[in-house]
This record gives sequence, C-alpha cells and structure tokens, in this order.
Amino acid sequence: MSYECIIAEVRGDGERKTGLITLNRPKQLNALNDQLMDEMGQALLAFDADDSIGCIVLTGSERAFAAGADIPTMAPHTFISAFKSGLISKNWETILLIRKPVIAAVAGFALGGGCELAMMCDFIIAADTAKFGQPEIKLGIIPGAGGTQRLPRAVGKSRAMDMLLTARMMDAAEASTAGLVSRVVPAEKLMEEALTAAETINGFSGPSVMLIKELVNLAYQGPLKDGVAVERRYFHALFGTDDQREGMDAFINKRKPGFTQS
Ligand code: CAA
Repeated sequence: MSYECIIAEVRGDGERKTGLITLNRPKQLNALNDQLMDEMGQALLAFDADDSIGCIVLTGSERAFAAGADIPTMAPHTFISAFKSGLISKNWETILLIRKPVIAAVAGFALGGGCELAMMCDFIIAADTAKFGQPEIKLGIIPGAGGTQRLPRAVGKSRAMDMLLTARMMDAAEASTAGLVSRVVPAEKLMEEALTAAETINGFSGPSVMLIKELVNLAYQGPLKDGVAVERRYFHALFGTDDQREGMDAFINKRKPGFTQS
C-alpha cells in the first residue's frame, strides 16, 4: 500500500516484527488532515491484522510529532458542517480499536490534536526536544480529540487546567515528572529506544501483551472493582495457554523461553 501523508514500514528481524508509522507532512509540521488520518487508520488496522507484527510505533519528524489538526482545512467550518461531517471523529478514533500496543515516539511539537494523538497511544517515549501542549484556546476553540479528558487523567487536574487555559507548552522533563511520558531520551536515540521497547514486547507472548493493554485501558476508563474482577478471570484463562507452560518451565529450568503465541 502506498501512502502520501505517512510512511508505513516493517522493522526488526525477530520472529515478530514492529510496524513503524511515520507521519509525513513535514512542511505543515505534520498537521493532521483527513487524508493523513485516513491513511494512518488504514496502516494501523493492517498492522493489527498482520500476525507477524507484535507492536506498532507511531512517530513524526525531528521538528514535530504533529502540530495539531490542520487549521486551514478546519477554518471554514460552521457548527452545522462540523457536526454533519463529524469533524475530528471516525478517522481519529481508529487508533482506539487497535489491540496491539502502540508506542508514540515524540520529538518536537506535539500540540493540540498532536498531543491528543500521542495520548491515545499506549505509552509515550519522548525525545528531550519534545514539547506538549493544548493551545486550542488561542484559536477560539477547545480540544476536539479527548484533550480535556485524557490530559487531566495523565497529569492531574491542576496542571491540565493550567495547560488548557493558558496554552503553555510542557517540555519533556516536565512531561516526564507529570507522568505524561514514560521515558525521556536524547533526541538522536529516540527511534532506537522506541524500536528496542517494541522489540522487547514482540518477544513476549502476544495474548498476554494484548490482555495487559486491554486491562490497563479498563483501569484507566472504569471503576477499580470491575477492572480487578476482569483481570482475575483473564489471569486464570492464561493458564490454558502453551505460552504460560513454556514461560514458567523456562524460568524453573533457567533457560530462555520460546513463546509460540498460543
Ligand atoms: N495546521 C496547519 N498548518 C500548520 C499547523 C497546523 N496545526 N501548525 C503549523 N503549521 C504550518 C504553518 O502554517 C507553517 O506553514 P507555512 O510555512 O506554509 O507558513 C509551517 O507549519 C511551520 O510553522 P511555523 O512557521 O508557525 O513554525 P514555528 O516554528 O514558528 O512555530 C508552532 C511552530 C509553535 C507549532 C506553530 O506553527 C503553531 O503554533 N502551530 C499551531 C498549533 C496549534 O494551534 N495546534 C492546535 C490545532 S487545533 C486542534 O488540534 C484541534 C483538536 O483538538 C483536534
């Protein structure tokens, strides 16, 4: 499949590989228009359906992960046209359907929809150049892809209010302290770090990986009691897999496990 606004490629030489998606509208700092979001959705779904892929990495350029939704294409909308066309709807939410882990590797600006897209990934690895922000208020609008909901969950109410109401940007160090990103690395090491993390995940049992993603999202979205109950059932269910027997036998016999994804 050839794309115009993204690059989709397969990385790694292990049994299970990494799907790498690079946002590629450099002149517009990867501003997220419909074509890019459609293409990204197609690439994500294709990697999710491909059994040889264990994990997906989503990245941008050195200067920008993404500077937000595409402002010139949004500018002419009225309430009715935005509502009827479902502006920032379907193609923005495809990423939430993906069952394999999606790691955001962020360098430079992740603003507005760019920050929201990074927050829709499962975790964020940031270059020391990364800058996060929700500057929609400066445009006379508000975030439209979950920013008012995911940012407070990620960084707490006070810091989220500060960012959303003042439009100030958060640098990588602050994003790390606040819990928005999982690690900060020198910019030149960003892709190596993200691809290594993906490769580590690729080496584990796929069903365990997918269940952890599902359960952490349940913890993030729902009540604790329900999440713990579902976790217990899935925990029991994994004792019906070959990978559980292999993983535990390998530990006991001090050898490396060979997971078969079954
Ligand atoms: N949409 C379209 N084009 C954009 C863009 C965007 N969101 N952000 C940057 N660009 C374009 C600029 O128009 C510029 O294009 P030209 O060279 O043709 O003029 C090019 O990218 C480079 O940008 P700048 O010259 O502005 O670069 P800079 O280094 O001076 O500033 C910046 C970088 C701080 C990111 C600045 O471009 C900026 O503030 N961008 C807008 C950020 C923003 O408001 N994002 C929120 C969008 S709304 C949204 O996302 C809604 C939602 O919730 C989904």
